[in-house]
Formats: sequence, structure tokens, C-alpha cells
Amino acid sequence: MKRRSVHLTRLASLLIVLTVLIECQPAPTPTPQASAPTAAPTSLPAAPASAPTSQPSASTAVPAPPTSAAPVYRDASQPAEKRVDDLLARMTLAEKIGQMTQVEHNSIQPEQVRQYAIGSVLSGGDSIGDDSAESWRRLVESYEEQALKTRLGIPLIYGIDAVHGHAHVEGATIFPHNIGLGATRDTALVERVGRATAEEVAATGIHWNFAPVVAVPQEIRWGRTYEGYSENTDLVTQLGTAYVKGLQSVNGKLGLSDPTAVLATPKHFIADGGTQFGTSTTVIERRYLLDQGDARMDEATLRALFLPPYKAAVDAGAQSVMASFSSWNGAKMHANKYWLTDVLKGELGFKGFVVSDWGGIDQISPDNDRAVITAINVGVDMNMVPYDYKRFIDTLTRVVNKGDVPMSRIDDAVRRILTIKFERGLFEHPLADPAALSKVGNQEHRELAREAVRKSLVLLKNENDTLPLKKDTPVIFVGGEAADRTGYQSGGWTTEWQGTTRSLGGTSILEAIKQAVSLNTRIEYNRFGKFESIMNAQGRPLVADIGIAAVGEAPYAEGVGDRADLTLSPEDANLVQRVKSQSKKVVVILISGRPMVVTEQLPAWDALVAAWLPGTEGEGITDVLFGDAPFTGKLPYTWPRWNSQLPFDFKNLPKEGCDAPLFPFGYGLAANDPSPKQLECPRP
Ligand code: BGC
Ligand code: BGC
Repeated sequence: MKRRSVHLTRLASLLIVLTVLIECQPAPTPTPQASAPTAAPTSLPAAPASAPTSQPSASTAVPAPPTSAAPVYRDASQPAEKRVDDLLARMTLAEKIGQMTQVEHNSIQPEQVRQYAIGSVLSGGDSIGDDSAESWRRLVESYEEQALKTRLGIPLIYGIDAVHGHAHVEGATIFPHNIGLGATRDTALVERVGRATAEEVAATGIHWNFAPVVAVPQEIRWGRTYEGYSENTDLVTQLGTAYVKGLQSVNGKLGLSDPTAVLATPKHFIADGGTQFGTSTTVIERRYLLDQGDARMDEATLRALFLPPYKAAVDAGAQSVMASFSSWNGAKMHANKYWLTDVLKGELGFKGFVVSDWGGIDQISPDNDRAVITAINVGVDMNMVPYDYKRFIDTLTRVVNKGDVPMSRIDDAVRRILTIKFERGLFEHPLADPAALSKVGNQEHRELAREAVRKSLVLLKNENDTLPLKKDTPVIFVGGEAADRTGYQSGGWTTEWQGTTRSLGGTSILEAIKQAVSLNTRIEYNRFGKFESIMNAQGRPLVADIGIAAVGEAPYAEGVGDRADLTLSPEDANLVQRVKSQSKKVVVILISGRPMVVTEQLPAWDALVAAWLPGTEGEGITDVLFGDAPFTGKLPYTWPRWNSQLPFDFKNLPKEGCDAPLFPFGYGLAANDPSPKQLECPRP
């Protein structure tokens, strides 16, 4: 599924082509990096075609060339602060605004990065067609090379959502989504996942990951529940911090300048995960329910629930934070000086830069001047522009020249961005070493992902001595598309923004089962769970010793996954029933981005495993299913008995009886634990 409107993107590219044609102006001649700082004004980035013709001198004047021949900012032995001072003093307003502009790659050609002195490019959710690691590396490099040819040669910082591994890239290791990592409760593991992800991301030349989501989702009907580690603030704080360290540290030490370090981005600041059902007004593919909605609560509650993960991440060295699409009591976070500047930059002492979310500034006001003035003045430093970056540059230039955004605010934003570029070592090694591509999807990372999967599985029910399964079980029936396609296992933010139901690399659950069992075991697979045509030696329908059904949710992302009803679909419920009708025992593997309502079906199932969105390494599931590793995962979210219990009133949650959740937070059996008896509760 294409993200947002494909038409918009096409329109955007058409406009780009048209503007290029209309402009018809020769591109500025590339200037070698070394001589850049003293270059004449003619080598400035060309003024945007749509810029006001009578540009005030402030935006075009080139500061007087410094007398020293060796530019301080190019000297790696100098502290970042000095280098920033030196560089900032050489920059025009156009170059400063360029640094504050981050454009989606579909909306900009590499040459325009040079022409407009753009500071950052990102890739949104979609595939680039040929998604090989080498194609991605070349794509990123094509932009970076142009940035290096600008007058001052300021390298580009390239960003992507590698939220569960570098999952746009074919052959990359895809880790469990955060909900699964939340079930592991294992901070050391999460740090290693961050490190492995950083190595794969950096190998393609990308320096910046829009992760981790450190929302503390209070509502599992939210389509981003799986991006959050848990409903529990402490757990999110621990795991979010571990992930930040993993991305940015090398050999256990903060090592931002290491070529394999990737900038972390705790997001979305603040209150996503706290929005109220029905308050969203966004329509992308469908009407959103919670995502980008309004969090209605007092400040003390908001702080207690959502602020600790940011504080800890900032203390651990996080250098970029993404603003939230959400509002707090009706006020947009992108327009909120109190939270972005007073709390984040002031109280928490955040020295990095705030990046807006995808077109988030445009949501502030239909009046573009007002939107830009507000966002920059309240503390947004870098604007993530999905489509029309020229408009943003024009607008910001105009409002700065009118005095509506003070130069001091521009300098502060650019200083923050440049500081990170120096600290990340971008001036010294802007491009990836092609040899590093061997890290992408390597065996070590896959083993790590498999370990994460093992530890993420939560055993919710296990009766009739069902689990662990015996490897020499004579006949096993496997049903459900999710067992056979790694796209299902991986969920949203995989290849495409909304994920894919295709097979990706890695090992499906079905393949993993085939690998795990003895040579004599017979495995039959049917995606609909239909096995009635399989006969035994006597010509009667064959009955399997074990049936395994993989069901749950098809991939989704963001508000497209907001749901009013979390009940297992009738198709899936029937599928399990069919498998069960031809098997002595049935094991259900739930592939889903959150708990689902299975109360009515559960009594008929012998075992239920919540596998979340495990990613590509299906053997992690069979390691545990067949008893090579124990079940250790614990629920990171409370599991509802009925939809009507949502949203949970966590402060007054009944512990027993039919009003209690089906399974409490932290629940999870070991294979030899007796399954507690389930109450029979009437459907409300
Ligand atoms: C485009 C993608 C792009 C995405 C942003 C879509 O409309 O088709 O190429 O990556 O927007 O996530
Ligand atoms: C999401 C962010 C993401 C950004 C770039 C937005 O729609 O809310 O989480 O980082 O797109 O893909």
C-alpha cells in the first residue's frame, strides 16, 4: 500500500520537473570542498526560482571571508563548538535555512540538494523498487555527494525509519517490533538490537534513525501500539534508553563519531499514546481514530506517564527528538513552546535538535506563514518536508526577513544541527564504506533477532500437555497465511509504510517448523486450514497429532491501524476451528500488533502463544515451541476480555471476576506451569 496519496507524490515530482524546466538556469559550478569557504558569491546556491525577486540583502549577502586560510570548521582536532562558531559565521541565511530543511527523497533530485544547500534528506515509508542494500547505499550517496559540492561543503544527514531493523532493505535483519521487545524485558538484548540495526543502517550510508518510539501507549486500539514497548512507563524508559545506547554507542561507550553510530530519535514528543479515542481528524486512506488525536489529561498525568522516557533518553545522549502530531488539550505539539522549548530544551537540558514530523508544521495553520513562524519560534529546528520544500524555504526566508522569526532562533537551530553533524563525524566520513554492506542481514544479526523472538513469545494458555511439542510428532497440520509469509510476521514499516503480505527474506513459521521436526514427521500446510481432503491409509480423513494455526492481524501502520474492534476476525476464528476439527490438539500462534479479543474462542484452543510481530527469524518461534528454549516472555500490555473494557482505567482495574482483564500486565506462563482456569463470562 502506498503511503499517503500516490497522486500527491506524482504531482510533486511533476512540479519538480516543471520547475526545473522553467528555471532553465545553469546549475552553479561545483566548488571543490577545500576552497569552498572563501568562494565568491557566484558559487552560492542558486536562489530558489519562486523566491521573491527583490530579496533583501540579508539573505544573499555572503559574510566577509575570514582572514585565516585554514578554515577552523574543517579541522577535526578542534572542538565541535569552535567549528560550529566558525562555520556559522560563514553562512548566508539561505544556507542556514537549507540546514533546517529535510526533504523526502521522492520530492527532490540530488542536484537540488546542492542548489538549495539542503541540510537533510529522508526516506519515508516506501520501497525504492530495487531495495537491495547496494541500491540504497547508492541512493543515499547520490544525495550526499551533492551536499559535499555546496559552497561550504556541509554534509547531509540522511534519515530513515529503521524501527525494527533496516526493514526497507531487502535482505536486512528484521527484528521483532518494539511490543515484542517489551515482552522480553531484556535491556541488554534491546541494546544489542539497537547496535545491530545501527550497523546495517550505517552500512547503507544513513546516519540517522527515527527510532525508538518511546510512547507509552495507554490505548491498544491505537495503530501504533506495536511501535511502543509497553503501556508501562518504567519499562519503556529502560528499553528506550537501551535502544538509544545501542544505536549511538560502540563497544559500550557513547561513540557518535564512529562510522557505525546512528543518531537515535526518541519520538513523538509528547503525548502520542495518550490520545483519546475518536479525537483524530486525520484522513489518510481512512479516518484515523486515535493517531494524531488529542491527549486530554492534566499536566501532572502527562508528565508522569510520558516524560520519563525522554528524560532518560536525553541523559543517555539522544541528540534528536521528533515532535508529535498529537495535541494536548487541544493544542498542537508542533506549536507548543512550553513542551518543545521550556520542558525539553530547558528543563531536560536537551542540546540536540527537534525535528518536526512528516508535514507536521503544515498542520498548525492553513496560513503557511503563520504555521512556519509558529513552529520555528516554539522550537522546531529541522522541518521534515514531505513534498514542497521550496515553499518552506521561501516562507521561512520571507518571515525571517520581516523579523517574524528572529535570527537568533535561526542561529540556535542551525547551531544545534551543525553540532550534531560535527559530533557524528560527518565532515570526516560522510560516505559509507561499501565493504560494510556485508553487515546487512549477516548471520550474527539474524542469530540475535532469533534470540529476541525466542524471548518475546508470551505463553497465555497451555493445556493437555500440548507444549512443548515433540520433534517426532508424526503428523502436523499448519494453517494460516501468516505461517507462510514473512511479510505478515513483520508487520508495518517493512518494505512499505503499511508493510506487505508478501514473503520477504528470512524464515517463515512454516519453514521453521519443517526445519525443527524429525525426518519422519509429516507436515501439511494449507493457508485456509482446510485438510479434509487428506486421507489416511484407510481412506478416512487424516487426523493430525498437532494442528498449528497462525492468525491475527495483517500489517498496518499509524492511524490506518486504529481499530474500534480488536476481536479476532470470524475468518481467523473459523480457520482455527477447521484446523482443530482435524487435529487432536490445536496451538494458536497469534501474529498481531497488540492483544486481541479471543475470549470466546479460547476455551476450544489447547495452547495460545502471543508472538506479536516477530520479524523475519521464524526459527525463534520453533526454538521455543519445540522446547529447545523456555517460554520467558511477559505481557507488556494488559489483555482485554472484551472491547468494552477499552480504554482500561488502569488505576481502578479489577483483579478478578468478569470485569478484570483476560490476562493482566506481566502475565506469561512457563511451559510447565498449569494454565489457570478461565472464568466463564457472558459477553457484555
Ligand atoms: C510515496 C513514497 C514515499 C512516501 C513517504 C508516498 O506517497 O509514494 O515514495 O516514501 O509517500 O513515506
Ligand atoms: C511518522 C513518523 C515517521 C515519519 C517519517 C510519520 O508519518 O509519524 O514516525 O518517522 O512519518 O516516515
